[in-house]
Amino acid sequence: MITEICRITEESLKKAKEILFNHGLIGMPTETVYGLAAVGTDPEAVKKIYEVKGRPSDNPLIAHIHKGYDIEKLVYVEQDYVRLLKEKFMPGPLTMVFKSRGVICPEAVCGGETLAVRMPSHEGCARLLEYVNVPLVAPSANISKHTSPVTAEHVFADLNGKIPLILDGGRCLAGIESTVLDVTGSVPRILRAGVITKEMIEDLVGGCEIAEHKEGDKVRSPGVKYRHYRPKCDAVLYSETEVGKAEERYYKETADGRRAFIMAESKICAALRERGVKNLLDLGATGEEIAHNLYEKLLEGERKADIIIAIDLGRTDGVFLGVENRLRKSCG
Ligand code: TXA
Ligand code: MG
Repeated sequence: MITEICRITEESLKKAKEILFNHGLIGMPTETVYGLAAVGTDPEAVKKIYEVKGRPSDNPLIAHIHKGYDIEKLVYVEQDYVRLLKEKFMPGPLTMVFKSRGVICPEAVCGGETLAVRMPSHEGCARLLEYVNVPLVAPSANISKHTSPVTAEHVFADLNGKIPLILDGGRCLAGIESTVLDVTGSVPRILRAGVITKEMIEDLVGGCEIAEHKEGDKVRSPGVKYRHYRPKCDAVLYSETEVGKAEERYYKETADGRRAFIMAESKICAALRERGVKNLLDLGATGEEIAHNLYEKLLEGERKADIIIAIDLGRTDGVFLGVENRLRKSCG
């Protein structure tokens, strides 16, 4: 199969619709990461998502809708605070988990009784969703466990020959996946941290919990239990107090003839550069910058390096919670 990359135009949207309505899959941009989309009511297409990605069959998918689509067609909205969250964060990088009405096919939710729904704010994605006017289910458009793609080229690198079309909507703004929030209970619970933070939700609705994933627990968001986001090269993680050790490792790896790169926030990169370290992957300074750059830098690293030596950020406030979680899973 030839995989085409197309900018979003009337013509490419038409092509996308044709593929989707004939049980096919396409790559689509969102403001978080690129998605691998299928019509959410089409079991044949949904099965292909799991095959193409090599995704474990117990990990459900998110349904993506446009602004004009009534979310209550898909789910039961039972909690009052959901109205506030919808007004403030939809469209945007927030996914909410509700009790499902069963419109989305069971294959997409692994037979479960809940459905995760999100309304992307990416303009091209919103255009696509309006154009097809059906919910599209989509996981991140990478091979299972690999780093999530934030450009059309990243999607191509993983899925070339496996899907007919990737819609190119430029580089993703947020850079990490949406916040997944369970809104079935009286207090919302974060199942996967993202750029919509615990603090932002708390400020708005007065409370927000973070689901803890302990050994032996019934897993609430199956995706978080897997090793994830791994680049194809080696990757190791040093704590923010071990910059010296990371630097020693860099020189040892280099002396052994391996291409080593240190990945860290700007301040640490600047200091290392002054001390003569050449191969650096600079993540940026603020939490938002680091989220935006993390996957891009991991994927740059896997092209250039035999080993990425990552330095932890040492913070879990705000967006750092989601970034830390990805950093530990990709390099830890
Ligand atoms: O930003 C995003 O969310 C991207 C873009 C493409 O929208 N999508 C994405 O999908 O990250 P995926 O499949 O890679 O991750 C979905 C996460 C997984 O951790 C999954 O377990 C969780 O959402 N999830 C999906 N449906 C769920 C449900 N019904 N209950 C609990 N967790 C759910
Ligand atoms: Mg994923």
